[in-house]
Amino acid sequence: LARGGLARDLAGRHVVVSAGGTREPLDPVRFLGNRSSGRQGVALATTALARGARVTLLAAHLAVPAPAGVEVVPVPTAAALLDAAVAAAPLADAVVMAAAVADFRPVTTAATKIKKSRGGVPQVELEQTADVLAALVAARRDGQVVVGFAAETGDASGDALAHGRAKLAAKGCDLLVVNEVGGPGHPTGFEGERNAGVVLLREGGEVPVPLGSKEALADLVWDLVSERWDSPLP
Ligand code: CTP
Ligand code: CA
Repeated sequence: LARGGLARDLAGRHVVVSAGGTREPLDPVRFLGNRSSGRQGVALATTALARGARVTLLAAHLAVPAPAGVEVVPVPTAAALLDAAVAAAPLADAVVMAAAVADFRPVTTAATKIKKSRGGVPQVELEQTADVLAALVAARRDGQVVVGFAAETGDASGDALAHGRAKLAAKGCDLLVVNEVGGPGHPTGFEGERNAGVVLLREGGEVPVPLGSKEALADLVWDLVSERWDSPLP
């Protein structure tokens, strides 16, 4: 299955990848953010480029450089990511949502820095952001492949994989890459060099992801996307 980027098998394809983590501003100097480095999304962009695709990278505060040769669209917030994704998707053969998108944002952003000297503790009211992946699925055209990522932990209501299956059903994307994440010291997921998990397929079935590099996972994702271009589901 793994072609390892030896062939330019994605030539003629245009793919859109989101990467990094959005930041939702509280005031001019503070934000609500997350720990995504953007490494997985950048690995997806790098491998797609190496395999001949045209790549648009929706970049949300990457901690690592974007590869030369991809079109980079900065998307600082969830709202900016939604706009850029909806704008880019109609011309894309695949859209991969590897970014960690804020689920909630402050209802208002203070125009000036919030000061302690004002007294009291600020109460921050949050509102939910739009679900970009759901918007992409709703607008998906024939032959387009939409991929989501989910970092899950097991809890009282189920293990990480059970949460992943429920999420795939709820989101309706073609592929969902599920990573089990742990706390500090866990070898996979946020900020690490390595990733492991399983890719869930919309029609059922799952492809295990061996513990390996983020590039290896990226190549596996493109292999599975490419298979769907070759044999679209009814
Ligand atoms: N996602 C998105 N827009 C959001 C939130 C998430 O497009 N506002 C995308 C992510 O990029 C990822 C997928 O949805 O590809 C799953 O993200 P995740 O945070 O796991 O799912 P949520 O639906 O936000 O559920 P929860 O965080 O409550 O588990
Ligand atoms: Ca979320």
